[in-house]
Amino acid sequence: MPSARHILSIDQGTTSTRALVFDQAGSLLATAQRELPQHYPADGWVEHDPEDIWRDTLAVMGEAARLADVPIAAIGITNQRETVVIWDRTTGRPIAPAIVWQDRRTAARCEALRQAGHEPLVQERTGLLLDPYFSATKLAWLLDHVPGARARAAAGELAAGTIDSFLTWRLTGGRVHATDATNASRTALFDIDRQRWCPDLLALFEVPAAILPEVRDSSGDFGWTDLLGGRIPIAGVAGDQQAALVGQGCFSAGEVKATYGTGCFALMNTGAQRLHSTKRLLSTVAYRLNGVPTYALEGSIFVAGAAVKWLRDGLGLITHASDTHDMATQVKDNGGVYLVPAFVGLGAPHWRPDARALLTGMTLATSAAHVARAAIEAVGFQTHDLLAAMADDGAGSPATLRVDGGMTANDWLCGFLADLNGVAVERPAMRECTALGAAFLAGLGVGLWPDLDALRAARPGVQLFAPTHGFDAPPLLDGWRHALRQALLA
Ligand code: G3P
Repeated sequence: MPSARHILSIDQGTTSTRALVFDQAGSLLATAQRELPQHYPADGWVEHDPEDIWRDTLAVMGEAARLADVPIAAIGITNQRETVVIWDRTTGRPIAPAIVWQDRRTAARCEALRQAGHEPLVQERTGLLLDPYFSATKLAWLLDHVPGARARAAAGELAAGTIDSFLTWRLTGGRVHATDATNASRTALFDIDRQRWCPDLLALFEVPAAILPEVRDSSGDFGWTDLLGGRIPIAGVAGDQQAALVGQGCFSAGEVKATYGTGCFALMNTGAQRLHSTKRLLSTVAYRLNGVPTYALEGSIFVAGAAVKWLRDGLGLITHASDTHDMATQVKDNGGVYLVPAFVGLGAPHWRPDARALLTGMTLATSAAHVARAAIEAVGFQTHDLLAAMADDGAGSPATLRVDGGMTANDWLCGFLADLNGVAVERPAMRECTALGAAFLAGLGVGLWPDLDALRAARPGVQLFAPTHGFDAPPLLDGWRHALRQALLA
């Protein structure tokens, strides 16, 4: 066991970059955060500046380490998934802005590939579907649109990867070009059964193998950095949703967590078995330890907290995200108002990049509180649809729904989720499950925790919300389905 006993997690999310320091008991010692500027250069496009991400990462790492003031045994990295960067191997400079997971610019390309009958191959090899959400068409877009990129890639001058790869490269001073199996499993280029880049898909999406990182276990050796002083190993890497699954201790088949960040992502551990969804859910790698993958079934909702951000920044209806709790409870019901938050299309189980958001059922009695409530309720309705699809896929119903992420500070939402799904909702007292999961993986990597049982023991205590909050689910779900049909037809 290392003499240093603390882990620093870097959580590079869609809207912020954070660093958190945990001790061996899983307690949070320090946290630092920077908001990440979003760029929307065209309709449906979403970009980040990788240099912003890097600058913020360095700043928050330094700040959290200073605040915690303890020796750091290892670093864990968790990140927004699917978002891609291509950079110059010599200078380390990105050749273009990062294309973010929410970006829809490759929708037409995905549709053309679907029309040409390629979706079954993608689903069979990767567990994913043909949607602009995933990395493959984003990488091809960059190679095709940045002048000279294809030739430079062919000459071996370029490296590509998801945000974890880019950060690992920078943190190690360009010594390591690697990713982990969870992040690889989101690219639509990775064969999740054989655990290797798939030659057929590289050819289909026209992505050269030479630009891709080496795929490693989620816990293990990702090099070291000296940017915090001394040599600190990077010992754990996972996509943020998979990291949250680990932080929630979902290590047994059938255990489910839902994380409410920018989007909402519900993942069910399916064990060593990869489930083949017939309900348009995703199969994905939950984590890979000692070369052995554990799989998950995933439902991806693109807009959860993003709708609250829209209420605040787009409509000016609220000042703070936390206002939604008071507003939702100000009105006795939703007044027939439903929001279908298809701001960037719809994810699972619809996969309609062309769908757009819809606010419906308003009368002259509709108030700002009804609109705020509709935004929160939409998160519950979509979670319900994902859990129903999991059950229809034969994955069963979970004993409890483990929730985390910023929105779950809202007790009202937790009660609503419990009633709508008829299942107890379990909320950890320490809700930083994504960062904790990355810390767990890094700690496993350096022997701070010996095994998954030790991680279970280091999980924070939980608060339970029984499905007894008095919401009448069937009529609410009928109203939601009616609104959803309108959005899908529009
Ligand atoms: O797949 C996208 C997901 O990883 C983004 O997560 O927490 O940034 O909304 P988050």
